[in-house]
Amino acid sequence: MGKIILTGDRPTGRLHVGHYVGSLKRRVELQNSGEYDKTFIMIADAQALTDNIENPEKVRQNIIEVALDYLSCGLDPAKSTLFIQSQISELCELTFYYMDLVTVSRLQRNPTVKAEIQMRNFEASIPVGFFTYPISQAADITAFKATTVPVGDDQLPMIEQTREIVRKFNSVYSEVLVEPEALLPQNQACMRLPGIDGKAKMSKSLGNCIYLADTADDVRKKIMSMYTDPTHLQVSDPGHIEGNTVFTYLDAFCKDEHFERYLPEYANLDELKAHYQRGGLGDVKVKKLLNNVMQEELEPIRNRRKEYEKDIPEIYNILKKGSEKAREEAAQTLSEVKNAMRINYFDDAELIKNQAEKYGE
Ligand code: TRP
Repeated sequence: MGKIILTGDRPTGRLHVGHYVGSLKRRVELQNSGEYDKTFIMIADAQALTDNIENPEKVRQNIIEVALDYLSCGLDPAKSTLFIQSQISELCELTFYYMDLVTVSRLQRNPTVKAEIQMRNFEASIPVGFFTYPISQAADITAFKATTVPVGDDQLPMIEQTREIVRKFNSVYSEVLVEPEALLPQNQACMRLPGIDGKAKMSKSLGNCIYLADTADDVRKKIMSMYTDPTHLQVSDPGHIEGNTVFTYLDAFCKDEHFERYLPEYANLDELKAHYQRGGLGDVKVKKLLNNVMQEELEPIRNRRKEYEKDIPEIYNILKKGSEKAREEAAQTLSEVKNAMRINYFDDAELIKNQAEKYGE
């Protein structure tokens, strides 16, 4: 059996550098590694609707933004199938059957869903669709027989839920579904990149994101205004690295080779950190390094985006073709699922014969 990737994002806004180091960059590497037989990248519009029912237009408008971000990062429609979740009706059918395999109390224990319910003040008025989205996510993953799901650690409870559904289905019916594994970012900084204000999460409503589509000037301004160490008042003061956003970003973006290009007086990030901690190194110098490093990474992405923006109908066409292909895969799995569940009555000659005999005598 082959190795298959499936992952995706809710289209509720443009993608930011947190998405990039947390998952996007890795997806492109995996896509190009040649180690995977198939790669599916899904724009999860139906999941986005589960907590945006007051604002469906936001979801609709952001599909193209996410698609442009995907393509400009290097996801290649010749290698990866890019598709839109709502276009694959088979996913709803799978979700409906999987619902029988999960209890309400199991869903209530999902820590990510719990946190989201709190954040959105849903408490007493949780939409059923939102409450059950981990089941629909299991359908997303299993429909493509994904072995590997590159995600951030907040998605681990969804993968665990998926694995439980797979085991349950396979034991009740027969071995049709594949247990997926999560693939997490390689380092802590990439796992959860903070906002430029130092807050734990980058979010549009907090206005603390650096977007992939930001101009070079915007990126520079945002970096220059980044939260650092409030006790590091003068250049000569010893500084702190922990909780210092600029260093967290350097952990996520910086490689040794960058020092040769931009700050040859240091061999690597450890030396720079040591100097900062000793005192005598100013924030502006560190921020300028970060700006150089990030511009180097973001510029090609920005340039590719500009190219893709010139032909928007073609982007929809890519998504349409991808959705058609994804649908074929999902339909194949659904058919295997229905066979295993023995709800394929009209193809079941034996069932029809036996029932006929029962009534024949
Ligand atoms: N829950 C993911 C998010 O919020 C999006 C998503 C939907 C997803 N279905 C998926 C991710 C399947 C991985 C696999 O970003």
